[in-house]
This record gives sequence, structure tokens and C-alpha cells, in this order.
Amino acid sequence: MVSTLPVEVQSSGNQYLSQRDSGTILSPNQELLPLNARVNHHNSLEIGGCDVTTLVQQFGSPLYILDEQTLRTACQQYRDTFKQYYKGESQVLYASKAWNCLAVCAIVASEGLGIDVVSGGELYTALNAGVSSDKIYLHGNNKSREELILAIESGSTIVVDNWYELKTLVELATTDAAIRMMLRLTPGIECHTHEYIRTGHLDSKFGFDPNDLEEVFAFVSKQPSLNCVGLHAHIGSQIFERQPHRDLAAVMVQWFRDAAKYDLELTELNVGGGLGIKYTESDDPPSIAEWSKAICEVVQAACASLNLPLPKLLCEPGRSLIATACVTAYTIGSAKTIPDIRTYVTIDGGMSDNPRPITYQSVYRAVVANKMSASLTETVTLAGKHCESGDILIKNAQLPKTEPGDILVVMGTGAYNYSMASNYNRLPRPAAVLVANGEANLILQRETYEDIIRQDCLPERLK
Ligand SMILES: Cc1ncc(COP(=O)(O)O)c(C=O)c1O
Repeated sequence: MVSTLPVEVQSSGNQYLSQRDSGTILSPNQELLPLNARVNHHNSLEIGGCDVTTLVQQFGSPLYILDEQTLRTACQQYRDTFKQYYKGESQVLYASKAWNCLAVCAIVASEGLGIDVVSGGELYTALNAGVSSDKIYLHGNNKSREELILAIESGSTIVVDNWYELKTLVELATTDAAIRMMLRLTPGIECHTHEYIRTGHLDSKFGFDPNDLEEVFAFVSKQPSLNCVGLHAHIGSQIFERQPHRDLAAVMVQWFRDAAKYDLELTELNVGGGLGIKYTESDDPPSIAEWSKAICEVVQAACASLNLPLPKLLCEPGRSLIATACVTAYTIGSAKTIPDIRTYVTIDGGMSDNPRPITYQSVYRAVVANKMSASLTETVTLAGKHCESGDILIKNAQLPKTEPGDILVVMGTGAYNYSMASNYNRLPRPAAVLVANGEANLILQRETYEDIIRQDCLPERLK
């Protein structure tokens, strides 16, 4: 099997930590392991001061392990860079679709971030985590009336996606107060990312067509029940180039100018999320600070050239805020060697806790937590335990010799893993722990078999 790792660093799992000695400020999205990862004197992986193998003994397997400091650092880098480089007001929102649960919402809110939600369930979670509704934005291309009512009643801002929703909002409006909303547009900007995570090109199910913009502005400006505060666009995810977001910001400022013709006083400009992260050594995303600075500069320059006041600038990263903060620990079980073809090594989870490889052909890196200093002598295919041939977590993983009971750690699993997890094959969803300063706190309980059948109904006549 062919490995993509440079030969000189193919020594051991420690290679993923080698640059940590340099003392430079690390941007979490440019790292493979959480900032607080280290190898202890037992040659075992520690995260947030907790030994990963011990965490698995304590909380079970598979286990999501979230490093609080890495998440907080990413929040602070976004927040502080916008403060430093943008002369107007700014607000970073966390795109909570990446991982929405009470603890994650509470952490990002405590760092001053707002939250974007895409369903009633995410909204309900954010509200219950204590996030202030004036910092919550509801997205979605087919929001139900119930979801819209929950957003209106809680005082959250609604990011309106289409004509149907716009007209529904007018119907739902009461005389009490105008509904705080923004308009989502499809900017027609192409970026190089997976087809399913690209949303800004014209052939997308999301947002208004910019060709309809004047008509939309004209309609909204005649609705006293709607308080349209700004514009939103999101062009895609796992993006490494800076130019698409620069183009986007410049286009959006022009839309602001167009809105003025309709006496719409827009004050908020939201450029969405999309900054990529390092899943493998060959991924080279810009840092959080570089990306944020580029956005601030373009918006300021575009406003200056059109003689417009600076809007409040919003962005809503998901992946780059949380992906690197989390790893998933699994226990290794059976193995199967097919001579001259490959060796399958199986773990106790798979596509139900991480559907990204089977959905997007995403590539991950893994280490063996209890053998961090052992030489990477094996090339194996890491398979999940689901009844599905495509349930392959990592092809051609470089690992030390493994045996049943070893703890495999897959890196960069904080985004779109738990949030996309399922009960496929009726596997209970894993637990999640938050680690900091040597302490581990449960933030998601492991599902049980009772949970698995909790919503099942057995009609009397079948008993
Ligand atoms: C509207 C919207 N905003 C923000 C995001 C977050 O994107 P990312 O996780 O790539 O930063 C997404 C994700 O697809 C999205 O759909």
C-alpha cells in the first residue's frame, strides 16, 4: 500500500506533535491534534491532561474527547482578529450544525460568540444552553411554521432563504414587533470543495437568486412587519483558498448599495463560514487569523470605494472552530489479512459515529493512543463494525503493529461527526467528554439499548 506521509516522519505517532516545541502561536485549524495533546512518559496520548486510554476505561468506547482549550482558542482567535482588523462592529457566530449540544453552545457563548442554528432542535438547544437570543440566527431552506414561531417568540434573527418563507413570515407577523430577519443570497461564487458541501454557486438549493434581488428588496421594503437587518451568504465548506471569500465580501457590499435604493437600511453583513482545516499532512489551510483579516480588509476597502458606512460584520465558521478540538477514541477488535491485497483492522464504531468518509470520501489520520512511540510498521485499512462494505474509516492507515484492545484515536472529528451520527444497525451513539486541566466531564451520555427502543411502539395486537 502507498503512504502519503513523507518518509522521514514515518517514525511513530509522535510525529503529529513534533512542531509543538517551537513556541509559536498555533491556529487550531492548522493542527492535526488538539493543542493540549502530548505524549506522556508511558508513551500514551494525553489530551487536556487526561490519558486517553484511561478515559476509555472510565467512559467506554467509542468516545468523543473534546479539548476545551482548543475550542476556546479558536473562538478567541476569530473574535480577536475581527476586533483587531475591523474598524466597525463585528460578531462571530458559531455554525452549530458542526456540533450542537448544551456544553458546546455554552462554551462558545462564554467566549462572546453568537450561534447560528439550522433547525428548531438546534435553536431549542442553544436557548437551553443560555445563549442570548439576540445572538442567535436561524437558517434553513425549508423552515417549518413551528420553527419560525419559536425563532420569532424567542427574539432570534431569521435568515430568510426563499420567497415562500418570506411570505410565510408576513403571515406569521403580529402587530407586536417587527420580525428581525436577514436575506440569504446565492452569490454564484465557485470554490474547490466537495460538491455536497458547496453552496454558493447558482445551482444550489439555498438562498435567493441575486437576479431577484431588486424584487426581493422592493417587497421587503413594503413590509412594516419585517425588520430586515442585513444580508447573508455562505459559499461552501473546507475551503483553503482565500480569494472566494474576498470575492464574496466585495459582491455583498455592492448588494448593500443596491438595498439603499429601496430605503432599506441594512446594517449586518454575514459572509458565512467555510474555512478549512488540516485533516492530513497535505492539507494547508490559511490560519484563522489570516482568513479573518482578509475578510475585514476586503469589506473595509469595498465600503470605502462605494462610500458606504461600515456594516456590522458577521461570519459563521463551524468546522474550523471545533473540528481539531475533538478526537474519537475506538477500541481495536478483529483483523483480517487477505494475502497480497490488504489487512482490515476493525474498530468498535464506524459510519454511525463518523459518516464523513462514506458520505464525502473524507480522509482522516489516526494514531494508537497506547503506542504513541512505537514505529509505524503497518499499513492497514481501518474498518467500521457496520454491516456495510463501504464502512471504511481510513484506507492505508500507517500504524504500529496493533492488537485487540489497543485504543485507536482518529483526529479532527469535532465537526460533523457527532452532529451527523446515527443509530445505523441500532448502535447506541457514543458518549462525549470535555477535557481540561486533567479533568474530564461527561457532556453527552452514551446511549443505551433502552434509548435505542425508547421511541419504538409495539401495537397491542402484535404483542
Ligand atoms: C449557512 C452555513 N453557515 C455556516 C456553515 C459552516 O461552514 P463551515 O463548517 O465550513 O465553517 C455552513 C455549513 O455548511 C452553512 O451551511
